Amino acid sequence: MKNPKHYSELPNGKKSTILLNFKKVFLPFLTLSLIISMSFYLNDYNNNESLLNDPEGSPSNSSILRPHAANERCNIFKGDWVMDPLRQPYYTNETKCVIDDRQNCMKFGRPDNEFLKWRWKPDECELPKFDAMQFLEIVRGKTLAFLGDSVGRNQMQSLVCMLASATYEAKDVSYVPDTRFRRWFYPDHNFTIEALWSPYLVKADEADSKGFSANSLMSLYLDEADETWSSQIQHVDIVIVSAGHWFFRPYYLYEKSRLIGCVMCNDKNITQLSVYNAYKMAFWTTFETLINNTNFKGLVFLRTFSPSHFENGDWNNGGNCARTKPFSKDEKKLDGYLLEMYMTQVREFKGAKKEGEKRGLDFRMMDTSEAMILRPDGHPNHYGHWPKDKAIADCVHWCMPGPVETWNEFLLQMLKREGEGINNGKILEEKS
Ligand SMILES: *[C@@H]1O[C@H](CO)[C@@H](O)[C@H](O)[C@H]1NC(C)=O
Ligand SMILES: *[C@@H]1O[C@H](CO)[C@@H](O)[C@H](O)[C@H]1NC(C)=O
Ligand SMILES: *[C@@H]1O[C@H](CO)[C@@H](O)[C@H](O)[C@H]1NC(C)=O
Ligand SMILES: *[C@@H]1O[C@H](CO)[C@@H](O)[C@H](O)[C@H]1NC(C)=O
Ligand SMILES: *[C@@H]1O[C@H](CO)[C@@H](O)[C@H](O)[C@H]1NC(C)=O
Repeated sequence: MKNPKHYSELPNGKKSTILLNFKKVFLPFLTLSLIISMSFYLNDYNNNESLLNDPEGSPSNSSILRPHAANERCNIFKGDWVMDPLRQPYYTNETKCVIDDRQNCMKFGRPDNEFLKWRWKPDECELPKFDAMQFLEIVRGKTLAFLGDSVGRNQMQSLVCMLASATYEAKDVSYVPDTRFRRWFYPDHNFTIEALWSPYLVKADEADSKGFSANSLMSLYLDEADETWSSQIQHVDIVIVSAGHWFFRPYYLYEKSRLIGCVMCNDKNITQLSVYNAYKMAFWTTFETLINNTNFKGLVFLRTFSPSHFENGDWNNGGNCARTKPFSKDEKKLDGYLLEMYMTQVREFKGAKKEGEKRGLDFRMMDTSEAMILRPDGHPNHYGHWPKDKAIADCVHWCMPGPVETWNEFLLQMLKREGEGINNGKILEEKS
């Protein structure tokens, strides 16, 4: 396998000094990108009612968005966070599992713990607690891959900690030292979890003469899947695909190896395309690559866009996320750029689901966006992310422990449903 590229985990993860130098050189360009990313982070769009009423994409009225808790006709993704004062986190900062310092909010002194006491309550049923033993029985002999950026890995590490707290410890069987491609093995269950780090999902190269930085130019090849994952995918039984925040930075876009435009590149000679164009194509290519690969027989989950919650400024000029309580459903809706990103994914997902069916591949949507938009209190903020660099708050990833555990509660319920014969019980079949 090729050496993974050496850029940072997220575009908004770089030190401010780089940014300052950058400002001097590229001020006009920066202003443009700030306008775009300000609206990105501050959610200052409000008038998307028409999209909300679009039956094709409405989070609440699309049949593909309506998976059920096992045994129940209930949309587990529609609900609210309810206070449960007795709720304990699945694991602590002393559980034997890897918690990245950047998400280890307890270790770095986050003073409040109310954010650990909210549980997700679907409107029409209960979301059962995660049962590690049950989970491991379902995935016996399987490989589960988290394909995408570091927010996807956030879920993976949360899962590993949830299993570790129930005394199921994983062996590190990584084949490269780079932890973005970590592999965990559970010998008693012959179960493998692996991270396939690919923040754009498609082939991407650095394209900035000044080298990589928070806002440096990249080149995206929209019709070519990133080989770092596509060469590894054929043995995967369950893949959870996600991507998002890396698309909000400048890049050139290529199709059939020809430059077709750019995003935030400030070059008048090049067609300006929207983030959504790139995002749409990246998912389409990813899904098509899975469908085209006849050796791949896995179950595909799309984990929908994970919202960030910067307030009081942009990520790179003092924005933070200091709330200690969830929003109520009346206070906050999926809207603006978030809704647009979400809908872009949903559209590509629907197309892929249809195409996939033709060759017996199942696509499922892990529809976490609505739940997570309500959790501005769930991010590390200044507790974790480069703890020495207090200037930059992390309002993108999720504290561990924290609300990200809910994604794995969803995962278990979705897998249980597969196993119960609905959808032909594919997950329990041996690979042919
Ligand atoms: C929602 O879906 C139901 C059944 O699938 C349909 O009858 C109804 O018209 C839809 N509502 C909207 C607003 O599209
Ligand atoms: C774990 O978190 C507590 C605060 O909840 C903190 O006092 C302690 O130092 C942390 N321990 C480790 C090993 O990080
Ligand atoms: C473990 O699972 C793999 C498939 O992922 C299978 O090929 C292998 O035979 C299994 N090993 C045992 C000991 O069951
Ligand atoms: C744009 O194209 C014109 C005409 O081909 C050329 O003279 C100019 O240098 C180009 N500008 C940039 C920024 O590449
Ligand atoms: C998938 O296969 C079709 C038909 O051969 C081809 O046109 C398309 O480019 C392929 N897509 C990808 C992403 O490889």
